Amino acid sequence: MSALTGFDNISFPYSSLSAQWVVRVKNISWDDSLNVDVDEINDDHQKLVDLFNILSQSVEEGNSFDYIDAVLEELITCTIWHFRHEERLMVRYQYDGIESHKAEHNDLIEGVRAMQVMLREENRLPTSEDFEYLADWLTSHIVGQDMRLGFYLAEVMA
Ligand SMILES: [Fe+2]
Ligand SMILES: [Fe+2]
Repeated sequence: MSALTGFDNISFPYSSLSAQWVVRVKNISWDDSLNVDVDEINDDHQKLVDLFNILSQSVEEGNSFDYIDAVLEELITCTIWHFRHEERLMVRYQYDGIESHKAEHNDLIEGVRAMQVMLREENRLPTSEDFEYLADWLTSHIVGQDMRLGFYLAEVMA
């Protein structure tokens, strides 16, 4: 379904995790274009952006497999928690559009789980293309679905 499945020929066995494998990967810069107007959602998004950047930096710097795995697990856990948070607010404030919003959430969970399977079962680190895909997904979701939700919530929660 994504860039995550397109790089089967790139292999990073545990023993190869060293400075020689340093790769350039994407970071996300937080700025006002990601502001969705609801503080509790902005706080979650900033946490997710921080974790994304910690993960990409850990791969770029050639950190240990266990550390990268731990950061990825934390990112997945926080992402799922954040999605449930938004979905709870959608139900609470009777947001029209919950199904299409949830469908995008489920797509991302599938994508990051694929990354975790790749790491744990095939000993392959996320590639720069994987980070590119995730960063694009996250920022487009925030400026698309989350922005629409934020405008709605800012009105009804006021
Ligand atoms: Fe969302
Ligand atoms: Fe969100």
